[in-house]
Amino acid sequence: MSIPSKEKEKIQQLSAKAKTAFQTAQTEKELYDCKTQFIGKKSLLTLARKEIKNCPADQKPAWGAFFNQVFQELSIFYNERQKELSQRSLDQKIEREVIDLSLPGPSFPNGSKHPITKLLEQIIEIFIPLGYSIQTGPYVESDWYNFSALNFPPFHPSRDLQDTFYVGKDHVLRTHTSPVQIRSLESLAPPFAVLAPGAVFRSDSDISHSPMFHQVEGLYVNQKVSLADLKGTLSYFLKKLFQSSKIQLRFRPSFFPFTEPSAEYDISCPFCNRKGCSVCKKSGWIEIGGCGLVHPEVFHSVQWDSCQWQGFAFGLGVERLAVILYNIPDIRLFFENDVRFLKQFSAV
Ligand code: PHE
Repeated sequence: MSIPSKEKEKIQQLSAKAKTAFQTAQTEKELYDCKTQFIGKKSLLTLARKEIKNCPADQKPAWGAFFNQVFQELSIFYNERQKELSQRSLDQKIEREVIDLSLPGPSFPNGSKHPITKLLEQIIEIFIPLGYSIQTGPYVESDWYNFSALNFPPFHPSRDLQDTFYVGKDHVLRTHTSPVQIRSLESLAPPFAVLAPGAVFRSDSDISHSPMFHQVEGLYVNQKVSLADLKGTLSYFLKKLFQSSKIQLRFRPSFFPFTEPSAEYDISCPFCNRKGCSVCKKSGWIEIGGCGLVHPEVFHSVQWDSCQWQGFAFGLGVERLAVILYNIPDIRLFFENDVRFLKQFSAV
């Protein structure tokens, strides 16, 4: 049985009304309200659909199919209008948006020099006014420059003291900056004073040793050079670096094949003024480096007359100084490049 045409017409009119309402809605909110009104749970159409159960049984399938079609049509109609309106509101938003080109852009964090580079520069700045010039040498050195010319005898155990990285049979990664002493003596006319900063390499790694670290070598050559000149120079340098006239310098007898006499030099602990603290391990003194007067054999290595020329040389470990200056617990922190660590030095 088909549906009585009068009733069918009523529903069709309601559906047409709903379509017009959807079409005339101007905002998504308005459209949503129309949806509730026309096809929501309490709408006339939904209520009418529920009446199917009271129809004569033979009309039920026709009513069911008819309502399905009406609701399907309306929901397609609704969805399309919904898409239109949401696109329209997006377009309007974009139209309203003003880009202010005068606003500051996003800020990027500033980089800064590595603390070791800064300290190297500080050290250099103290020596330059004293007449020192900067000299450099290669990282891969021949056995001659790193050892033999510096009076290390062949097969002598002192070569093992420095945990050398060998590069082939006759070459090494330089274990200290002292080879630059030989290179300077070969290329410069005396008298001269040179400073040789740079990386050095030793097969050693723990909280106070790193396989790559930095040294600064000093060499002064003239006709008469004494231990007093050496001590005066180091004392001046350390007072400047630690910005304190109270810093005292102490020499302890030591041995290096390329200096005679040789000494290790310490400074009075700048943190406790020799009273004893955790930085100086209660001794009141902190070891800084090695030094001495140039050994005559070093002059002979480069065919210089050791009766005519004298010199002093000193070396210092830059990371070691940094550890003291900034109270750093582990030297390896300087090479891990953790930005949180490095950032703390951006103002130093
Ligand atoms: N080259 C020595 C070292 O690395 C330090 C030093 C330099 C000693 C100059 C004396 C003179 O331990």
